[in-house]
Amino acid sequence: MRPAIIVGNWKMHKTIGEALQFINEFVRLLAGARRQVYLAVPHTSLAAVAELACGIDGLQVGAQDVSAHQDGAWTGEVSARMIKEAGAYFVLIGHSERRLHHAEGNDRVNQKLKLAMQATIQPIVCVGETFTDREEGREKEVLEKQLTESLAGLSKEDASCLMIAYEPVWAIGTGKNATPEIAQSTHSFCRQVLEKIWDEQTAQKVPLLYGGSVKPENAEMLLMQPDIDGLLVGGASLNARTFSQIVNANVNHQVA
Ligand code: PGA
Repeated sequence: MRPAIIVGNWKMHKTIGEALQFINEFVRLLAGARRQVYLAVPHTSLAAVAELACGIDGLQVGAQDVSAHQDGAWTGEVSARMIKEAGAYFVLIGHSERRLHHAEGNDRVNQKLKLAMQATIQPIVCVGETFTDREEGREKEVLEKQLTESLAGLSKEDASCLMIAYEPVWAIGTGKNATPEIAQSTHSFCRQVLEKIWDEQTAQKVPLLYGGSVKPENAEMLLMQPDIDGLLVGGASLNARTFSQIVNANVNHQVA
């Protein structure tokens, strides 16, 4: 049994001051029974938030992206070793906004993933189909390709420190979340793909998070699905009160 993991993704929001104010308020609002909470913050506030979070049980801080290069002449890029030094415990890789607006393909995601692992940072690899993919009935094909290519060359041991986030692109920031049934059946499909890549035992151990318009009103139903091990929350993670309601939802939920 493992507790559900709730990941907040602040995207390009919050200065250092705003971030620290959030943490102080958020911690006061958490119920006694604690979930694992992860916060993906902008690079600029990573060090300050990580330092503050150090003394807070169950709170991990991470980055929203990492360079696909070790180091060198890559103006504007931030390497895995740099985010590690700044306090990143984990990193989001291949978020759909990176895939869409920065032309990140599965090969790039795979490079980033390997560098994050080398730097002992836990990767959360994001996958998800577009509205057109689903409309045309191609969501399984798209997800299988994203998973297989993004995770290429990873051993079963590597899989033990990995998380996957399924975020249907049509649900991100749109207010249209997948129903718990759609999310569950897609998660179960993703789990089957992981079985094909490794084996059943390994696939069962990889936490699968759902993301896309998660709110306090739908968090509990989503977390009750057997293949949903946690949530990746964008907009609703920006407000301490709203995010704490999601973190506190159905707090006894355990994943078998
Ligand atoms: P949203 O974003 O919760 O605002 O839909 C989710 C995400 O992009 O990770």
